[in-house]
Amino acid sequence: MGRPDGTDMSVPALSKLTRRRFDAVIVGAGGAGMRCSLQLANAGLNVAVLSKVFPTRSHTVAAQGGIGAALGNMTEDNWLWHMFDTVKGSDYLGDQDAIEFMCREAPHVVYELEHFGMPFDRNPDGTIYQRPFGGHSAHYGEKPVPRACAAADRTGHAMLHTLYQRNVASRTQFFVEWMALDLIRNVDGDVVGVIALEMETGEPMIFESKVTVLATGGAGRIWDASTNAYICTGDGIGMTARAGLPLEDMEFWQFHPSGVAGAGVLITEGVRGEGGFLLNCNGERFMERYAPTLKDLAPRDFVSRSMDQEIKEGRGCGPNKDYVLLKLDHLGAETIMKRLPSIREIAIKFANVDPIREPIPVVPTIHYQMGGIPTNHHGQVVAPSFSTPGGDPNAVVEGLYAIGECACVSVHGANRLGTNSLLDLLVFGRAAGNRIIEQQVVQQGHKSFPAAGGEAALARLAALDAAAGGERVQDVADAIRKTMQSHCGVFRTGSMLQEGVRMITALEERAKRVSIDDKSKIFNTARVEALELENLVETAKATIFSAAARTESRGAHAREDFLERDDVHWLKHSLYYSDGNRLDYKPVNMKPLSVDGFEPKRRTF
Ligand code: FUM
Repeated sequence: MGRPDGTDMSVPALSKLTRRRFDAVIVGAGGAGMRCSLQLANAGLNVAVLSKVFPTRSHTVAAQGGIGAALGNMTEDNWLWHMFDTVKGSDYLGDQDAIEFMCREAPHVVYELEHFGMPFDRNPDGTIYQRPFGGHSAHYGEKPVPRACAAADRTGHAMLHTLYQRNVASRTQFFVEWMALDLIRNVDGDVVGVIALEMETGEPMIFESKVTVLATGGAGRIWDASTNAYICTGDGIGMTARAGLPLEDMEFWQFHPSGVAGAGVLITEGVRGEGGFLLNCNGERFMERYAPTLKDLAPRDFVSRSMDQEIKEGRGCGPNKDYVLLKLDHLGAETIMKRLPSIREIAIKFANVDPIREPIPVVPTIHYQMGGIPTNHHGQVVAPSFSTPGGDPNAVVEGLYAIGECACVSVHGANRLGTNSLLDLLVFGRAAGNRIIEQQVVQQGHKSFPAAGGEAALARLAALDAAAGGERVQDVADAIRKTMQSHCGVFRTGSMLQEGVRMITALEERAKRVSIDDKSKIFNTARVEALELENLVETAKATIFSAAARTESRGAHAREDFLERDDVHWLKHSLYYSDGNRLDYKPVNMKPLSVDGFEPKRRTF
């Protein structure tokens, strides 16, 4: 088959592929990937960053409200209070060594970003402006504290541009519009590179590397209504699952309380941080009933469930009573234009309301994946050792790192606090870079590369090109999204989840029989969507199998048939293996690095 320019686009033999060698290959150019690449490029490593989109279009660009750090610029704050909030927010499933590390490092990484040129909003005294955010409190839960370091409501946008400019100056090599397909492991199980596809030409290439860093972001596109960009298809999750490695805590997905009803676009929690609040159809500020202390600034799992409850009990708004209202007109036009300009634009475009005058219709909408690829707090991927499954659950997989939303460190446990995601990107992107530098990767040679490395991906590409008369990729992807939405939502039950397991298993079979027509092959977009479908399937399977098995309610995993958290049986991390849809478990680390740990307590706000 030929392309319009006459070049051949049939899948080449493995021996014919171009090969390039780097000290480090980073898959993903969001905040985590670019923070890591910057650290490495500045240390003189030869770094390649692969990205499906231009780096500044990575999904970090959509982050709005701020970066959590106890700077204390507005009122007194302390990293220990931040740590306490994060542990409690995680419903005690977060690993406390990693949480301590993140909260202690937070001020440092924010000041570093400031020195890189990040255009933070400023206080009159020149310090970084901070706003309150859900679940962040002073004095161990006493009252809300302004901890989110913000650049208006475009913090992710400002951060991504800052990091990209710094990377360009440091000579990071970007491979733009390249999609990584598979990790390549040698006979010892060490990761020695990836096979990737240039999206424009359809040409596969082998990237040999001393270390590979997955920074592929979240996979929110397994859901029908999502704040995530269309690129968030779980590519790192799929690559990890296909490499035989486990996925941790995949049952925990965050519903953000304020997605625009019917559109899914994010309205930052910063709106409530600035003083906005939620109303039901009676004009009641209902969060006062559910969370008397933190009210609308309770953690997201709490607020989303409260909203769902209001809607279920008939107090939703609109003709179908299926959303609630986010009121902010009382903040005044000046504050809205200064602190929340993008929110106003989004509300006008997607909800047809001007929030200076009217409230915004909102519903809980999928936003963030708490689980992911298991790592330690240096970003190294950990898994029961390759040769002895069931051995040390925290054995390091040599040569492989994961950072950002695709990783599970685990600092977010069963429910992430707002602003801790941008913080996670910075802290663990930097930490992974530092660990790679400490390990003196530049001085080491490349490990032996397996002769068949990349073959499985080439076989899948060839099968896709040969397939004819199958189902449309988007029909199967849509069915996955609808199934996840209807069977794995804010509230879950055993029977609903078991039915979801059966439906996703059937969809996995359907996904094997898709085909793309010749016209779409020429432009390659359909080929990329078909490859993304493999990753959606892996992510959806990991989520629904892990959720069906966990018979308790914890954080974002709310079971109507098991209403309570069960620390006796379930204070442990799930490990899901794609091969055989097997589940294993490992203990939560309750021991911080240098302070006393926080014991599980009932969560009230
Ligand atoms: O609401 C927001 O601005 C989102 C922030 C976050 O997810 O951390």
